[in-house]
Amino acid sequence: MTTLSGITPSGRLTLGNHLGALRRFTDPEGFYFVANLHAMTTKHDPRRLAALTREFATLMLAAGTAPGTVFVQSDVNTHAQLAYLLECTSYVGELSRMIQYKEKGKGRPMTRASLFTYPCLMAADILLYGADRVPVGGDQSQHVELARDVAIRFNREYGETFVVPRLAKAAYATRVKDLADPTKKMSKSEADDAVGTIRLLDPPDVIRRQIMRAVTDSDNEVRHDEAAKPGITNLLDILAACTDGDPVQLATAYSSYGELKRDVADAVLAVLEPLQKEYARLTTDPGAINELLAQGRDRALEASLPRLRAAERAMGLAGSA
Ligand code: TYM
Repeated sequence: MTTLSGITPSGRLTLGNHLGALRRFTDPEGFYFVANLHAMTTKHDPRRLAALTREFATLMLAAGTAPGTVFVQSDVNTHAQLAYLLECTSYVGELSRMIQYKEKGKGRPMTRASLFTYPCLMAADILLYGADRVPVGGDQSQHVELARDVAIRFNREYGETFVVPRLAKAAYATRVKDLADPTKKMSKSEADDAVGTIRLLDPPDVIRRQIMRAVTDSDNEVRHDEAAKPGITNLLDILAACTDGDPVQLATAYSSYGELKRDVADAVLAVLEPLQKEYARLTTDPGAINELLAQGRDRALEASLPRLRAAERAMGLAGSA
């Protein structure tokens, strides 16, 4: 079994990213990368992209992802190469149906062409390594589904080349909600100072304050009920994810919102404080981070090249080599 996942450096990482994905990047044989090529599919600032790429890679290492499994997507050029081959096996019809494209770009002439072909790059990321397990949050299901379709179609048209991947969702917190508006997901693309978004590197007192101020309802009954009580349900899901508990069960222990919020803040900080300490420690030695990323790059290149070559041969790209 091969595990693979990526995170796009398009804004500072949130608690949602950590609970839904990052803290599950634990397979010592896995492939985990900063998807910086994906961050260029909408208007971007090159300096901020470079800084976020570095921050994300360091956070992955700080989260305990095994050294050697972490790399930066653009360091491994097989990704962009296979993406082109997959663009040649995907259809405008299916790409037009992707939610992300429909929401962020469809019908707007200045949409980057790469936003449209984004799913082909993501399929390439996954298929290059024969990954059959992709730990992501709920919002990525359509993309993983497309990667499955592309793999199945490629194998049928050009011969057995790719492993067909599977989504691996977390038990809870597959869609952590915004604390200020629990009807929408917590997103890293919100403004840096948005009160509903917990950033992994926010100071602990800021995080505690944000949780204490989370929007709830007014009846003061702690119950897991997504439709009627989205704010409380979100807090219970966060608590369950941070303590490996069951959110429905946990609800029975509380008789007031204040108590619940205090426990959520403690649980979140128990997860984030060690991560922040390790991040601070790693940043004191940039050379060591470079070394680890170079190892990750070399390993990823070696692991992905054979499948790129197999796909090229299968499609009739017979070069001189
Ligand atoms: P991205 O960068 O938007 O999100 C990174 C990961 O965090 C998860 N996530 C959440 N989980 C729970 N609650 C939330 N509120 C929340 N917000 C985000 C996402 O589901 C994701 O797992 N296209 C991908 C990056 C990517 C990728 C890949 C992933 C590129 N290539 C190959 C897997 C395999 C993305 O932009 O995720």
